[in-house]
Amino acid sequence: MPSPSPAGRAPDDRAFYITTPIFYVNDVPHIGHAYTEVAADVLARWHRQAGDDTWLLTGTDEHGQKILRTAVANETTPKAWADQLVENAWKPLLATIDIANDDFIRTTDERHEIAVARFLQKLYDDGHIYAGEYEGYYCVGCEEYKQADELVDGEGEFEGQKLCAIHSRPVEVLKEKNYFFRMSDFAKPLLDLYESQPDFVQPESVRNEIVQFVKHGLDDLSISRSTFDWGIKVPWDPTHVVYVWFDALLNYVSAIGYGIDSPEERAEFARRWPAHHLVGKDIARFHAVIWPAMLLAAGLPVPHRVFGHGWLLVGGEKMSKSKLTGIAPQQITEVFGSDAFRYYFLRAITFGQDGSFSWEDLSARYHAELANGFGNLASRVVAMVERYFDGTVPAVPADGWAPREQALVDAVARAAADADSAMGRFAIHEAIASVWTLVDDLNGYLTVAEPWQLAKDDARRAELEAVLAASVHVLGAVTVLLSPVMPKATARLWDALGGEGDIRDQDVRDPGAWRGSGRVSALEGTLFPRIEEADAGAA
Ligand code: ME8
Ligand code: MG
Repeated sequence: MPSPSPAGRAPDDRAFYITTPIFYVNDVPHIGHAYTEVAADVLARWHRQAGDDTWLLTGTDEHGQKILRTAVANETTPKAWADQLVENAWKPLLATIDIANDDFIRTTDERHEIAVARFLQKLYDDGHIYAGEYEGYYCVGCEEYKQADELVDGEGEFEGQKLCAIHSRPVEVLKEKNYFFRMSDFAKPLLDLYESQPDFVQPESVRNEIVQFVKHGLDDLSISRSTFDWGIKVPWDPTHVVYVWFDALLNYVSAIGYGIDSPEERAEFARRWPAHHLVGKDIARFHAVIWPAMLLAAGLPVPHRVFGHGWLLVGGEKMSKSKLTGIAPQQITEVFGSDAFRYYFLRAITFGQDGSFSWEDLSARYHAELANGFGNLASRVVAMVERYFDGTVPAVPADGWAPREQALVDAVARAAADADSAMGRFAIHEAIASVWTLVDDLNGYLTVAEPWQLAKDDARRAELEAVLAASVHVLGAVTVLLSPVMPKATARLWDALGGEGDIRDQDVRDPGAWRGSGRVSALEGTLFPRIEEADAGAA
């Protein structure tokens, strides 16, 4: 594979290092942040369950003017503000939506500050940074310098001012001495990268936007600020702090040992890097332009891919705290549970495109697909084994499956292969849909096979055995395949099916290989209880 990176190395195809953005701690999380977390977690759990050497990193972005101003407005220091939000809001979010991250990085961690200083010094020593003068517009909401075509004219209370088109807030005019990164040098190498590694930026719509942007040429990037001091000091000039995006992007390497020069850390870095970056499309440009330019300048391999997913829309607008349309993840999990949250957002929205959230749609899908579809199927199969066979799972027929059962069982490997290929492309909705064909197959099969009728006729005992043996086999495979999406419900079902070993160790690439004790036990309650109207429409 051609690699544009001077320090490129053959990627280890068993390594899967995936990251989320590190989120600003100016406010509490909403379902947009939770959406990215859940998607990254499902991909990580899938790869872990396939036996890949997986690492999921998430964390918080704590420096910069936005956080500083929020802290000041709340009459506290930025560090105290960040500490409080990380402990009371951002880390608890991970429990709320059941994220199994391997690490959590904060940009105020010492390991990160060391890495940023080391990286910057290297770029400076190698001539990629110079001192200059900056004059232009800055949006604190975006923490970004703006070009004229990214601004709109203010109206009403903002009459006569220029507003950031994203935040609808006035931008500020900045004129200061800054250090600049010679990003303009990297326009050509970046275009070569997009060309030689066509899946570097995904999906296609985001890729096209990025390629068009870089084709217009790149300006050098101001990477320091001297008018406030909440940030990492520029190592050769402590009167400046590092620009918050330059600082933040480096979390992806500082978390895996970039800054610390020990054999262990070097091995860790070599083992994990390069990453797959999952971000919202709002910040794809930082990840697909600035970040690889930084890495190329430092002689480090570029990421495997940058995937910019779509926006959750509420009432037709991008949901956001600054526009007061934010919904807290707990509002949903308290009613529907974390599994339903995870399933709903990844199933209902084509991953990569925008999707509208509504309580009605969530509730409808919850009842149709989880309560009546999967949950009811699971309860029925377990209950029939209990009722007709006292909980002992009938053996596979000695002379093999009859054609109808064989067709059902054969579908498992096909669905798993389709799902694995879709997960590989981050087409998470498609992967779930592939697994769901098995839920539908099994439901359809039971409707036709009518085991409850067979049970009335002693002469048809062998047929009944085959039907339930096949049903348990397929249900177990579905349980394995859905475990990355719905860890809680599937762990309960795994126990009820008598699954051997930890469900998180079951191979999603070979789910038909699962083994059970041969006994089922009652599912306590249903997997997805029905929700009363009054609870579901709460917001
Ligand atoms: O940008 N729909 O942090 P941030 C979908 N600190 N996803 C959404 C969303 C929505 N309506 N709203 C937010 C930053 N997100 C920087 C990142 S990374 C080196 C630094 C998600 O707190 C989505 O992942 O503003 C988006 O990219 C991210 O939150 C922005 O989070
Ligand atoms: Mg933002």
